[in-house]
Amino acid sequence: MSASFANFTSQSPAHNEFRSDTFTTPTLSMIESLANSSLGDAVYNEDNSTIQLEKKVAAIAGKEAGLYCVSGTLSNQIGLRTNLFQPPYSILCDYRGHVYVHEAGGLSTLSQAMVQPIIPKNGKYLTLVDDILPVFIPDDGEIHGAPTKLISLENTLHGMIFPLEEIKLISNFCKKNGVRLHLDGARLWNASVATGISIKEYCSYFDSVSLCLSKTLGAPIGSVLVSDKKFILKANHFKKQNGGGIRQSGLLAVMAITAIDENLPKLKKTHEWAAELGQICQEKGIILEHPVETNFVFVDLKANKIDVKKLVEISDKYGVKVYAGRIAFHYQVSEASFEAVKKVVVEAFEYAQLHPYNGEDTIRFYSATDDE
Ligand SMILES: Cc1ncc(COP(=O)(O)O)c(C=O)c1O
Repeated sequence: MSASFANFTSQSPAHNEFRSDTFTTPTLSMIESLANSSLGDAVYNEDNSTIQLEKKVAAIAGKEAGLYCVSGTLSNQIGLRTNLFQPPYSILCDYRGHVYVHEAGGLSTLSQAMVQPIIPKNGKYLTLVDDILPVFIPDDGEIHGAPTKLISLENTLHGMIFPLEEIKLISNFCKKNGVRLHLDGARLWNASVATGISIKEYCSYFDSVSLCLSKTLGAPIGSVLVSDKKFILKANHFKKQNGGGIRQSGLLAVMAITAIDENLPKLKKTHEWAAELGQICQEKGIILEHPVETNFVFVDLKANKIDVKKLVEISDKYGVKVYAGRIAFHYQVSEASFEAVKKVVVEAFEYAQLHPYNGEDTIRFYSATDDE
Protein backbone atom coordinates (compact mmCIF):
# COMPACT_ATOMS: atom_id res chain seq x y z
CA MET A 1 0.00 0.00 0.00
CA SER A 2 1.55 3.29 -1.01
CA ALA A 3 0.88 6.27 1.21
CA SER A 4 -0.75 9.44 -0.09
CA PHE A 5 0.71 12.57 1.41
CA ALA A 6 -2.13 14.81 0.20
CA ASN A 7 -2.76 16.10 3.72
CA PHE A 8 0.80 17.35 3.92
CA THR A 9 1.36 18.74 0.44
CA SER A 10 -1.68 20.97 0.08
CA GLN A 11 -2.42 24.12 2.07
CA SER A 12 -2.39 23.46 5.81
CA PRO A 13 -5.84 23.07 7.40
CA ALA A 14 -4.57 25.73 9.82
CA HIS A 15 -4.37 28.39 7.05
CA ASN A 16 -7.49 30.13 8.39
CA GLU A 17 -6.84 29.46 12.07
CA PHE A 18 -6.42 32.54 14.26
CA ARG A 19 -7.41 31.10 17.65
CA SER A 20 -3.84 30.15 18.54
CA ASP A 21 -0.42 29.48 17.05
CA THR A 22 -0.76 25.94 18.41
CA PHE A 23 -2.98 24.88 15.51
CA THR A 24 -0.12 24.51 13.02
CA THR A 25 -0.01 21.12 11.31
CA PRO A 26 2.99 18.89 10.51
CA THR A 27 4.63 19.48 7.13
CA LEU A 28 5.78 17.01 4.52
CA SER A 29 9.39 17.58 5.56
CA MET A 30 8.50 16.70 9.14
CA ILE A 31 6.82 13.49 8.00
CA GLU A 32 9.82 12.67 5.79
CA SER A 33 12.15 13.17 8.76
CA LEU A 34 10.43 10.25 10.49
CA ALA A 35 12.26 7.89 8.16
CA ASN A 36 15.53 8.98 9.73
CA SER A 37 14.38 8.82 13.34
CA SER A 38 16.14 6.62 15.84
CA LEU A 39 13.84 4.16 17.58
CA GLY A 40 15.39 3.83 21.03
CA ASP A 41 13.59 4.03 24.35
CA ALA A 42 13.92 7.58 25.66
CA VAL A 43 12.86 6.62 29.18
CA TYR A 44 16.05 4.50 29.23
CA ASN A 45 17.86 7.53 27.73
CA GLU A 46 18.65 5.39 24.69
CA ASP A 47 17.02 7.41 21.93
CA ASN A 48 19.53 9.30 19.84
CA SER A 49 17.09 11.64 18.08
CA THR A 50 15.65 12.76 21.43
CA ILE A 51 19.15 13.27 22.81
CA GLN A 52 20.03 15.22 19.65
CA LEU A 53 16.97 17.50 20.10
CA GLU A 54 17.71 18.07 23.79
CA LYS A 55 21.34 18.92 23.02
CA LYS A 56 20.35 21.17 20.13
CA VAL A 57 17.90 23.24 22.18
CA ALA A 58 20.26 23.35 25.18
CA ALA A 59 23.01 24.66 22.87
CA ILE A 60 20.68 27.32 21.40
CA ALA A 61 19.84 28.33 24.99
CA GLY A 62 23.46 28.18 26.14
CA LYS A 63 22.56 25.71 28.90
CA GLU A 64 24.24 22.43 29.84
CA ALA A 65 21.26 20.17 29.33
CA GLY A 66 17.72 19.86 28.00
CA LEU A 67 14.74 17.63 28.71
CA TYR A 68 12.16 16.90 26.02
CA CYS A 69 8.67 17.09 27.50
CA VAL A 70 5.35 16.30 25.97
CA SER A 71 3.94 19.78 26.62
CA GLY A 72 4.77 23.28 27.78
CA THR A 73 2.64 22.69 30.83
CA LEU A 74 4.73 19.70 31.89
CA SER A 75 7.96 21.48 31.09
CA ASN A 76 6.93 24.58 33.10
CA GLN A 77 5.50 22.70 36.03
CA ILE A 78 8.39 20.31 36.54
CA GLY A 79 10.80 23.19 35.92
CA LEU A 80 9.16 25.21 38.68
CA ARG A 81 9.01 22.17 40.97
CA THR A 82 12.70 21.40 40.49
CA ASN A 83 13.62 24.93 41.55
CA LEU A 84 11.94 24.41 44.92
CA PHE A 85 12.77 22.28 47.94
CA GLN A 86 10.78 22.37 51.17
CA PRO A 87 7.45 24.21 51.56
CA PRO A 88 6.27 26.68 52.75
CA TYR A 89 7.26 28.93 49.89
CA SER A 90 5.77 31.30 47.34
CA ILE A 91 6.13 31.65 43.60
CA LEU A 92 5.81 35.22 42.36
CA CYS A 93 4.52 35.76 38.82
CA ASP A 94 2.46 38.04 36.61
CA TYR A 95 -1.27 37.62 37.32
CA ARG A 96 -1.69 36.70 33.63
CA GLY A 97 1.13 34.10 33.69
CA HIS A 98 0.32 30.87 31.90
CA VAL A 99 1.89 28.87 34.76
CA TYR A 100 -0.67 30.41 37.13
CA VAL A 101 -3.81 30.85 35.01
CA HIS A 102 -3.74 28.04 32.47
CA GLU A 103 -1.90 25.08 33.94
CA ALA A 104 -4.77 23.50 35.86
CA GLY A 105 -3.64 24.67 39.29
CA GLY A 106 -0.41 22.69 38.99
CA LEU A 107 1.52 25.09 41.22
CA SER A 108 -0.63 24.18 44.21
CA THR A 109 -0.54 20.43 43.65
CA LEU A 110 2.82 19.67 42.03
CA SER A 111 4.85 22.30 43.89
CA GLN A 112 2.63 22.84 46.94
CA ALA A 113 3.36 26.52 46.49
CA MET A 114 1.58 29.71 47.45
CA VAL A 115 1.33 31.97 44.44
CA GLN A 116 1.87 35.72 44.46
CA PRO A 117 0.10 36.80 41.25
CA ILE A 118 1.08 40.42 40.64
CA ILE A 119 -0.61 43.01 38.43
CA PRO A 120 2.26 44.96 36.84
CA LYS A 121 1.92 48.69 37.50
CA ASN A 122 2.89 49.50 33.93
CA GLY A 123 0.25 47.09 32.58
CA LYS A 124 2.85 45.24 30.53
CA TYR A 125 5.58 43.48 32.51
CA LEU A 126 6.75 43.11 36.10
CA THR A 127 9.46 45.44 37.29
CA LEU A 128 11.75 44.87 40.23
CA VAL A 129 11.17 48.21 41.91
CA ASP A 130 7.44 48.75 41.35
CA ASP A 131 6.10 45.21 41.46
CA ILE A 132 8.48 42.74 43.04
CA LEU A 133 10.18 44.54 45.93
CA PRO A 134 6.93 45.76 47.56
CA VAL A 135 5.59 42.19 47.90
CA PHE A 136 8.78 40.16 48.17
CA ILE A 137 8.71 37.87 51.25
CA PRO A 138 12.26 37.23 52.51
CA ASP A 139 13.21 33.97 54.22
CA ASP A 140 14.45 35.78 57.33
CA GLY A 141 12.94 33.84 60.19
CA GLU A 142 9.61 35.65 60.19
CA ILE A 143 7.21 32.73 60.42
CA HIS A 144 3.85 34.04 59.22
CA GLY A 145 4.44 34.21 55.48
CA ALA A 146 5.57 31.81 52.77
CA PRO A 147 8.95 33.14 51.59
CA THR A 148 9.30 34.07 47.92
CA LYS A 149 11.68 31.38 46.68
CA LEU A 150 10.96 31.53 42.98
CA ILE A 151 10.03 34.16 40.43
CA SER A 152 8.51 32.99 37.16
CA LEU A 153 8.52 35.34 34.18
CA GLU A 154 6.97 34.86 30.75
CA ASN A 155 8.45 36.09 27.47
CA THR A 156 6.57 36.83 25.36
CA LEU A 157 3.45 37.35 27.45
CA HIS A 158 0.34 37.95 25.38
CA GLY A 159 2.77 38.68 22.57
CA MET A 160 4.57 41.40 24.55
CA ILE A 161 8.34 41.36 24.88
CA PHE A 162 9.89 41.47 28.35
CA PRO A 163 12.65 44.11 28.23
CA LEU A 164 16.13 42.66 28.69
CA GLU A 165 17.23 45.46 31.02
CA GLU A 166 14.44 44.60 33.46
CA ILE A 167 15.24 40.88 33.23
CA LYS A 168 18.83 41.72 34.19
CA LEU A 169 17.71 43.70 37.26
CA ILE A 170 15.38 40.92 38.41
CA SER A 171 18.00 38.23 37.77
CA ASN A 172 20.60 40.17 39.74
CA PHE A 173 18.21 40.60 42.64
CA CYS A 174 17.38 36.86 42.60
CA LYS A 175 21.05 35.84 42.66
CA LYS A 176 21.78 38.14 45.60
CA ASN A 177 18.77 36.94 47.58
CA GLY A 178 18.79 33.18 46.99
CA VAL A 179 15.67 33.34 44.81
CA ARG A 180 15.41 31.09 41.76
CA LEU A 181 14.30 32.49 38.40
CA HIS A 182 12.30 30.50 35.84
CA LEU A 183 11.22 31.61 32.38
CA ASP A 184 8.16 30.39 30.56
CA GLY A 185 9.77 30.91 27.17
CA ALA A 186 7.02 29.21 25.20
CA ARG A 187 7.42 32.01 22.66
CA LEU A 188 10.93 33.22 23.46
CA TRP A 189 11.60 32.43 19.79
CA ASN A 190 9.33 35.35 18.87
CA ALA A 191 10.99 37.72 21.33
CA SER A 192 14.39 36.79 19.94
CA VAL A 193 13.32 37.23 16.30
CA ALA A 194 11.71 40.61 17.10
CA THR A 195 14.60 42.05 19.13
CA GLY A 196 17.62 40.33 17.62
CA ILE A 197 18.65 39.33 21.17
CA SER A 198 19.74 35.69 21.08
CA ILE A 199 17.88 32.93 22.90
CA LYS A 200 21.19 32.25 24.63
CA GLU A 201 21.49 35.80 25.95
CA TYR A 202 17.92 35.73 27.27
CA CYS A 203 18.40 32.32 28.90
CA SER A 204 21.65 33.32 30.59
CA TYR A 205 19.65 35.27 33.21
CA PHE A 206 17.44 32.32 34.23
CA ASP A 207 17.98 29.14 36.23
CA SER A 208 15.50 27.24 34.08
CA VAL A 209 13.66 27.95 30.84
CA SER A 210 10.82 26.14 29.12
CA LEU A 211 10.95 26.53 25.33
CA CYS A 212 7.92 25.33 23.37
CA LEU A 213 8.26 23.66 20.00
CA SER A 214 4.60 23.04 19.27
CA LYS A 215 3.46 26.62 19.19
CA THR A 216 4.79 29.32 16.88
CA LEU A 217 7.57 26.99 15.57
CA GLY A 218 5.01 24.43 14.45
CA ALA A 219 6.31 21.07 15.71
CA PRO A 220 3.42 18.72 16.41
CA ILE A 221 4.35 17.99 20.03
CA GLY A 222 6.54 19.12 22.84
CA SER A 223 8.69 21.56 24.74
CA VAL A 224 12.24 21.42 26.02
CA LEU A 225 13.17 22.41 29.56
CA VAL A 226 16.76 23.67 29.75
CA SER A 227 19.06 24.21 32.72
CA ASP A 228 22.25 22.73 34.19
CA LYS A 229 22.85 18.96 34.19
CA LYS A 230 22.02 18.38 37.85
CA PHE A 231 18.76 20.30 37.52
CA ILE A 232 17.71 18.37 34.40
CA LEU A 233 18.43 15.03 36.10
CA LYS A 234 16.07 15.97 38.90
CA ALA A 235 13.49 17.41 36.50
CA ASN A 236 13.51 14.07 34.65
CA HIS A 237 12.57 12.45 37.95
CA PHE A 238 9.49 14.68 38.22
CA LYS A 239 8.75 14.14 34.53
CA LYS A 240 8.61 10.38 35.09
CA GLN A 241 6.59 10.77 38.27
CA ASN A 242 3.97 12.76 36.37
CA GLY A 243 3.62 10.17 33.63
CA GLY A 244 5.65 12.26 31.18
CA GLY A 245 8.07 9.54 30.04
CA ILE A 246 7.76 8.97 26.29
CA ARG A 247 9.22 5.75 24.91
CA GLN A 248 10.08 6.07 21.17
CA SER A 249 10.09 9.87 21.31
CA GLY A 250 12.65 10.04 18.50
CA LEU A 251 9.72 10.19 16.08
CA LEU A 252 8.56 13.38 17.75
CA ALA A 253 12.06 14.74 18.22
CA VAL A 254 12.99 14.58 14.53
CA MET A 255 9.86 16.51 13.62
CA ALA A 256 10.72 19.12 16.25
CA ILE A 257 14.26 19.42 14.90
CA THR A 258 12.82 20.00 11.41
CA ALA A 259 10.47 22.62 12.85
CA ILE A 260 13.33 24.55 14.47
CA ASP A 261 15.50 24.37 11.36
CA GLU A 262 12.81 25.33 8.89
CA ASN A 263 10.36 27.58 10.69
CA LEU A 264 12.34 29.98 12.85
CA PRO A 265 12.98 32.29 9.87
CA LYS A 266 9.24 32.32 9.12
CA LEU A 267 8.25 34.01 12.39
CA LYS A 268 9.15 37.49 11.17
CA LYS A 269 6.30 37.38 8.67
CA THR A 270 3.82 36.50 11.42
CA HIS A 271 4.94 39.62 13.31
CA GLU A 272 4.44 41.74 10.20
CA TRP A 273 0.90 40.45 9.76
CA ALA A 274 0.10 41.20 13.40
CA ALA A 275 1.63 44.68 13.11
CA GLU A 276 -0.47 45.40 10.01
CA LEU A 277 -3.68 44.38 11.77
CA GLY A 278 -2.62 46.41 14.82
CA GLN A 279 -2.08 49.42 12.58
CA ILE A 280 -5.54 49.04 11.02
CA CYS A 281 -7.04 48.87 14.53
CA GLN A 282 -5.25 52.05 15.48
CA GLU A 283 -6.46 53.88 12.39
CA LYS A 284 -10.06 52.77 12.94
CA GLY A 285 -10.04 53.55 16.66
CA ILE A 286 -10.35 49.89 17.66
CA ILE A 287 -9.05 49.62 21.23
CA LEU A 288 -6.39 46.96 21.85
CA GLU A 289 -5.62 45.46 25.26
CA HIS A 290 -1.94 46.26 24.79
CA PRO A 291 0.60 47.03 22.08
CA VAL A 292 1.32 44.55 19.29
CA GLU A 293 4.95 43.45 19.57
CA THR A 294 5.11 39.98 18.04
CA ASN A 295 2.48 37.56 16.65
CA PHE A 296 -0.65 38.43 18.65
CA VAL A 297 -3.25 41.17 18.41
CA PHE A 298 -5.48 41.46 21.47
CA VAL A 299 -8.66 43.34 20.53
CA ASP A 300 -10.30 44.57 23.73
CA LEU A 301 -13.82 43.22 23.22
CA LYS A 302 -15.22 44.83 26.34
CA ALA A 303 -13.82 48.30 25.65
CA ASN A 304 -15.01 48.11 22.03
CA LYS A 305 -18.39 46.70 23.17
CA ILE A 306 -18.05 43.78 20.77
CA ASP A 307 -20.21 40.73 21.42
CA VAL A 308 -17.97 37.69 21.08
CA LYS A 309 -20.84 35.67 19.58
CA LYS A 310 -21.19 38.28 16.83
CA LEU A 311 -17.43 38.20 16.28
CA VAL A 312 -17.54 34.43 15.81
CA GLU A 313 -20.56 34.75 13.51
CA ILE A 314 -18.71 37.25 11.31
CA SER A 315 -15.56 35.11 11.27
CA ASP A 316 -17.66 32.11 10.16
CA LYS A 317 -19.03 34.23 7.34
CA TYR A 318 -15.49 34.99 6.14
CA GLY A 319 -14.32 31.40 6.60
CA VAL A 320 -11.73 32.04 9.31
CA LYS A 321 -11.51 30.83 12.89
CA VAL A 322 -11.55 33.42 15.65
CA TYR A 323 -12.96 32.71 19.09
CA ALA A 324 -12.10 35.80 21.14
CA GLY A 325 -10.36 39.15 20.98
CA ARG A 326 -7.00 37.41 20.68
CA ILE A 327 -5.97 37.09 17.05
CA ALA A 328 -2.97 34.76 16.78
CA PHE A 329 -0.68 34.62 13.77
CA HIS A 330 1.41 31.62 12.80
CA TYR A 331 3.48 30.75 9.77
CA GLN A 332 0.76 28.64 8.10
CA VAL A 333 -1.75 31.48 7.81
CA SER A 334 -2.57 32.12 4.14
CA GLU A 335 -2.65 35.57 2.54
CA ALA A 336 -6.36 35.06 1.73
CA SER A 337 -7.12 34.28 5.38
CA PHE A 338 -5.11 37.28 6.48
CA GLU A 339 -7.20 39.52 4.23
CA ALA A 340 -10.35 37.90 5.63
CA VAL A 341 -9.41 38.28 9.29
CA LYS A 342 -8.77 42.00 8.82
CA LYS A 343 -12.33 42.33 7.48
CA VAL A 344 -13.68 40.31 10.42
CA VAL A 345 -12.14 42.63 13.02
CA VAL A 346 -13.26 45.81 11.26
CA GLU A 347 -16.77 44.52 10.61
CA ALA A 348 -17.21 43.33 14.22
CA PHE A 349 -16.11 46.76 15.42
CA GLU A 350 -18.40 48.63 13.05
CA TYR A 351 -21.30 46.41 14.08
CA ALA A 352 -20.54 47.18 17.74
CA GLN A 353 -20.60 50.92 17.00
CA LEU A 354 -24.21 50.51 15.88
CA HIS A 355 -25.15 47.77 18.36
CA PRO A 356 -22.91 48.14 21.43
CA TYR A 357 -22.79 45.04 23.57
CA ASN A 358 -22.65 45.50 27.32
CA GLY A 359 -23.05 41.89 28.47
CA GLU A 360 -20.38 39.57 29.79
CA ASP A 361 -18.08 37.64 27.46
CA THR A 362 -18.56 33.91 27.55
CA ILE A 363 -15.36 32.49 26.16
CA ARG A 364 -14.37 28.88 26.74
CA PHE A 365 -11.27 27.23 25.33
CA TYR A 366 -12.71 23.79 25.81
CA SER A 367 -16.17 22.36 26.31
CA ALA A 368 -16.70 18.92 27.78
CA THR A 369 -18.91 16.86 25.50
CA ASP A 370 -22.34 16.56 26.94
CA ASP A 371 -23.46 13.13 25.77
CA GLU A 372 -25.13 11.67 28.86
C1 LIG B 1 2.87 31.05 27.37
C2 LIG B 1 2.53 29.59 27.40
N1 LIG B 1 3.20 28.79 28.22
C3 LIG B 1 2.93 27.48 28.30
C4 LIG B 1 1.95 26.90 27.53
C5 LIG B 1 1.62 25.44 27.71
O1 LIG B 1 1.90 24.67 26.60
P1 LIG B 1 1.12 23.29 26.33
O2 LIG B 1 -0.18 23.65 25.72
O3 LIG B 1 2.05 22.57 25.40
O4 LIG B 1 0.98 22.60 27.62
C6 LIG B 1 1.22 27.71 26.64
C7 LIG B 1 0.15 27.12 25.79
O5 LIG B 1 -0.45 27.74 24.98
C8 LIG B 1 1.52 29.09 26.58
O6 LIG B 1 0.84 29.91 25.76
